[in-house]
Amino acid sequence: DWNSGNVITEQVALIRAQVGTGKVICGLSGGVDSAVAAALVHKAIGDQLVCVFVDHGLLREDERRQVEEDYVKATGIRLVTVDVREQFINALAGVSDPETKRKIIGREFIRTFEQAQAELIKESAEIDGDPIRFLVQGTLYPDVVESGGGSGTANIKSHHNVGGLPEDLQFELVEPLRALFKDEVRAIGAELGLPAEIVQRQPFPGPGLGIRIVGEVTQARLDLLRQADAIVRAELTAAGLDREIWQCPVVLLADVRSVGVQGDGRTYGHPIVLRPVSSEDAMTADWTRLPYDLLAKISNRITNEVDGVNRVVLDVTSKPPGTIEWE
Ligand code: XMP
Repeated sequence: DWNSGNVITEQVALIRAQVGTGKVICGLSGGVDSAVAAALVHKAIGDQLVCVFVDHGLLREDERRQVEEDYVKATGIRLVTVDVREQFINALAGVSDPETKRKIIGREFIRTFEQAQAELIKESAEIDGDPIRFLVQGTLYPDVVESGGGSGTANIKSHHNVGGLPEDLQFELVEPLRALFKDEVRAIGAELGLPAEIVQRQPFPGPGLGIRIVGEVTQARLDLLRQADAIVRAELTAAGLDREIWQCPVVLLADVRSVGVQGDGRTYGHPIVLRPVSSEDAMTADWTRLPYDLLAKISNRITNEVDGVNRVVLDVTSKPPGTIEWE
């Protein structure tokens, strides 16, 4: 019988056996998976763990503050923030292909950790002389299966935390959630005493807003998408629908433009796609029948408030055949 207490006890023992007295680094993404994985490892080995939060510029509005303040307050975990927004935007310049974007983001992500590790060794007397050898990843069972690590399933998309790791990775991976589904991870997070705000957070892909811009990732497009995404999240929360929907990717079709009319002029702007889905484990999903009034409100707000967007469209595809994310 599945029981979150048993899983915690078992994983704590496994983590201790794997890392011994070794130093461990963990990237916090702001999402539930890395938050729970880090809390589990922290429970097992305490301050042998140092968490790194990478601000790669592909985050949603307010996410950095939530990790730096709320999560740290709740866990007492040691946290270092690395600001590499410029590095990522440069690495992604001129790239439109989804798999290439994912690979670049995955590669830059790991490189960032290697740099953070080097700096931490230099700076921290505690870590001095004993290099960080382990990297915690919040990989879930569905990630393993979809990246071809399961029972012979083809690689559908390279999840940056499974398939996209560079060959020269210098860390041994610690993946305490590898056998679990999302609802199980949430149960473990609750059992570990993490705040509901984090435990109930909807999934957000590691590559972030970078794979929600169909087309090249630029600073202006990121700012635009971040604004639209914040509106959608605020309205879904205000409508009390956070727990009913699994997640609602907001996608910018940066390579598509359509004619519109706003005020007294013709516009030639970009569409924003709403992708609300209901799911148990992200392996399959159905599009969520959001109330029309809510859709109207979101559409009005986005077209009025977000400069450059003149159309909002609704994705009514289930998974399969569509994946949840567009890239
Ligand atoms: P798809 O688009 O494959 O997404 O139906 C399934 C679930 O996985 C999330 N997702 C990711 N999560 N790294 C992650 O940690 C990734 O590279 C990644 N790509 C997709 C997606 O948001 C959905 O919840």
